[in-house]
Amino acid sequence: MAKSRQNLQTRHEELIVEHSPKSPVSEAYRNLRTNLSFLRPDEPLSKIAVTSSTPKEGKSLTVANLAISMAHNEEDILIIDADLRKPMQHKFYDLPNYEGLSNILTGELKFEEAVQETGIDRLSVISTGFIPPNPAELLSSHRMEEVIEQAEEEFDFVMIDTPPVIAVTDAAILGKKLDGILLVVASHETERGMLEKSTDKLKKANVDLIGTVLNKHPVKDGAGYDTYYYYYGE
Ligand SMILES: Nc1ncnc2c1ncn2[C@@H]1O[C@H](COP(=O)(O)OP(=O)(O)OP(=O)(O)O)[C@@H](O)[C@H]1O
Ligand SMILES: [Mg+2]
Repeated sequence: MAKSRQNLQTRHEELIVEHSPKSPVSEAYRNLRTNLSFLRPDEPLSKIAVTSSTPKEGKSLTVANLAISMAHNEEDILIIDADLRKPMQHKFYDLPNYEGLSNILTGELKFEEAVQETGIDRLSVISTGFIPPNPAELLSSHRMEEVIEQAEEEFDFVMIDTPPVIAVTDAAILGKKLDGILLVVASHETERGMLEKSTDKLKKANVDLIGTVLNKHPVKDGAGYDTYYYYYGE
């Protein structure tokens, strides 16, 4: 682990819920976790995807920090990196990505063989595996449904990282197989038109939009510095 942490591509430092659990941002992730747990009291959520309208709004980071806050709450959490176009989750935990989801979907690898420990108690990850030429076809396959079923059997909560909605159909394809989808919106970055197009696309695909996360929102903290606040709402 120490050796691979020298990897320049590591994003380990961004796991603020792990490194600074008492910070206001970590508190905001815990609020998000609590909101999700109260959302459907009769039928609690157990498998969701996280997406955004456009690239770089903070999907992958939201998945990682929210998953860690759930793992801290003594739940067994599995992150599946289904952004087969831009693999990312393994970089947060300095893990290899020689094999993963795409290898399961092509029948080369068993589910159990793809699950990697992250070094964070109760948090596991299935990285993307190789980048396939046909992500949408692989994600709409029956095998993907089996992966989700097995994940649900073995873990308390499954969180799936996806590509942005506007460009490709992957998130909508996955959302239909899950309890719903969380939409990350980058404050002051996302254009209203893009947001409307994305929510329309998800609604047309019959995806349950469970809420939005306002990300990268600058606020003044007590010391007068700008920081970021995460907000969750319907
Ligand atoms: N709340 C935040 N505060 C500061 N920087 C952030 C925040 N959220 C995300 N970022 C930064 O924005 C960039 C994109 O984040 P991330 O990779 O999580 O986005 P993404 O939506 O998954 O991107 P992609 O569309 O490329 O998959 C990163 O450099 C990340 O550090
Ligand atoms: Mg991403």
